[in-house]
Amino acid sequence: MNDTGSFAQYVVIGNPIAHSKSPEIQTRFAADTAQDLRYGRLLAPLNGFAAAVQQFIAQGGKGANVTVPFKLQAYALASSLTARAKAAGAVNTLKFDGADILGDNTDGIGLVTDIARNAGYDLAGKKILLLGAGGAARGAMLPLLQSAPLQLVIANRTPAKADELIQKFQPCAQGCALTACAFADLQQPFDLVINATSASLQADVPPIAPQVFGAATLAYDMMYGRQPTPFMQFAAAQGAQVRDGLGMLVEQAAESFFVWRGVRPRTDAVFAALRAQLS
Ligand code: ATR
Repeated sequence: MNDTGSFAQYVVIGNPIAHSKSPEIQTRFAADTAQDLRYGRLLAPLNGFAAAVQQFIAQGGKGANVTVPFKLQAYALASSLTARAKAAGAVNTLKFDGADILGDNTDGIGLVTDIARNAGYDLAGKKILLLGAGGAARGAMLPLLQSAPLQLVIANRTPAKADELIQKFQPCAQGCALTACAFADLQQPFDLVINATSASLQADVPPIAPQVFGAATLAYDMMYGRQPTPFMQFAAAQGAQVRDGLGMLVEQAAESFFVWRGVRPRTDAVFAALRAQLS
């Protein structure tokens, strides 16, 4: 990162970071849009996130994606925050402009764009079940509510955390019926079921009744991998349509690119390339 060159520099910051697909995605976007930029990986020490960001800025860095475990620290470090970053309570995109460090969050809009545009699924008037009440679920709340669903139910292993999310987002609910419940209380079918828990990381499935899925249900897991996640397998066994989170990854990256460069990259070819690597 010492070679500042004439091009704009961007990084993804995390710990660990070697696995991140962001450099490949952003570099493909830059080529597609003929933007002169370089995008790399930055491994920050667990106790050195802010110092790593400041050093990158001093070297001429223009922006960064932020991943595990630094999204809350990025929120704290930002000197200004977008409405969607405030709602998410976390930052995955930083933009450096003079002394200003803008904090944004593109995860939730990435999810909604993947569902609405790539999967062709209109969220307006739909009954949505959101599983989980951690950072991933919170990040999805504002963009989901802005898509005007009829009903949004949040269910979580620890129900009190789902209640907290409901309290927080009730003012943004507009016409949507926003409620919380425990997994065991779910008996009725939903149009869309989003798995925002980290259960798939442990090859686990939230303990929900098969009746939440019908033949017209879209079951969406924010996680992705070579194989359908256990959640997707369970949903598919009930006849649901399934989709993993690879498109969300690409769309949140495209939104970050737009925040930095003011240009919207095409995402289809990048998505197809990443999918091919997984197969
Ligand atoms: P993330 O940033 O990925 O959302 P998080 O903030 O730690 O991570 O939240 C993880 C979410 O997954 C929580 O909703 C958690 O439920 P609790 O609030 O009860 O802890 C949920 N979760 C994790 N493992 C799970 C499992 N095996 N089954 C069901 N829910 C699980």
